[in-house]
Amino acid sequence: MSKDVANHYSQGTLGDRIESGLKLAVGGDRPVTIDDLAPVDEFHIGGRPASVHLFDQLNLSPDDAVLDIGAGIGGTARFVAQTYGSTVTGIDLTPEFCEVAGQLNDLVGLSDKVDVVEGSALEMPFEDDSFSVAYMMHVGMNIEDKPALYKEIRRVLKPGGVLAIYDVLQGSNPEQLTFPVPWATVPETSFLATESEMRDYLVAAGFTVEKTTDRTQFAKEFFAAIIPPAGGAPPPLGIHLIIGNEAPTKLKNMVTNIGAGRCEPWEIIAR
Ligand SMILES: C[S@@+](CC[C@H](N)C(=O)[O-])C[C@H]1O[C@@H](n2cnc3c(N)ncnc32)[C@H](O)[C@@H]1O
Repeated sequence: MSKDVANHYSQGTLGDRIESGLKLAVGGDRPVTIDDLAPVDEFHIGGRPASVHLFDQLNLSPDDAVLDIGAGIGGTARFVAQTYGSTVTGIDLTPEFCEVAGQLNDLVGLSDKVDVVEGSALEMPFEDDSFSVAYMMHVGMNIEDKPALYKEIRRVLKPGGVLAIYDVLQGSNPEQLTFPVPWATVPETSFLATESEMRDYLVAAGFTVEKTTDRTQFAKEFFAAIIPPAGGAPPPLGIHLIIGNEAPTKLKNMVTNIGAGRCEPWEIIAR
């Protein structure tokens, strides 16, 4: 299963594609910033504005040791490190994403604050009680064993620590999703839980759920803004680069799936 998920996300050329996009979008006259990278390195619905919305609620500080579970190429981790001064450790299953994360950390001068290591969220190479805050952006959809996932997150969080989740959940319409979607080519690697199931999993793992927020309307507005009109070309740096194969189809399917109520992005904050 882990191999299938990592294969889904692997392209082999992502670093080069981002470098080419940066040349067109930024040129070579000034240093690249995390804001330049934001259109491509935050691989979740809504990108950077979605991160701002979630982290505005968390009161992060430079004293926080933060864990990014399923960090991808590290865009959210760099945003958190630069904005709040926190140290961020990421973990991700896809080797290519970890490699590109390291390159981009170097590029924007954040290698001392952000590190993305390769590994599984179900068996993290961290000591008990290591982090004051953990977050997970659009990752749970790839993980079937959610009780084990939240138990493992609880293990590495300090007592009283915060877990913030921004994931795509099962909607009220039980119809199967139209595939492919950005996180899965086929149904066998997609595991959506309802908001009520998420609460149960978290409580069973020892968390108190403090707040849940439906972000469906925000998602609809995001897709309307980023999908190019028929015949239009995508920008040099955009989410299509990290989505990779069949990006236009995957984006179109998300509009269909969300519009039909088959899936919904939610924020969940638990302690
Ligand atoms: C849609 S991407 C989101 C990446 C990142 N959180 C972001 O918002 O930019 C999902 C990520 O989860 C990672 N992932 C999926 N299952 C995982 C697991 N069991 N353990 C660690 N990472 C996982 C994938 O490799 C991929 O990078």
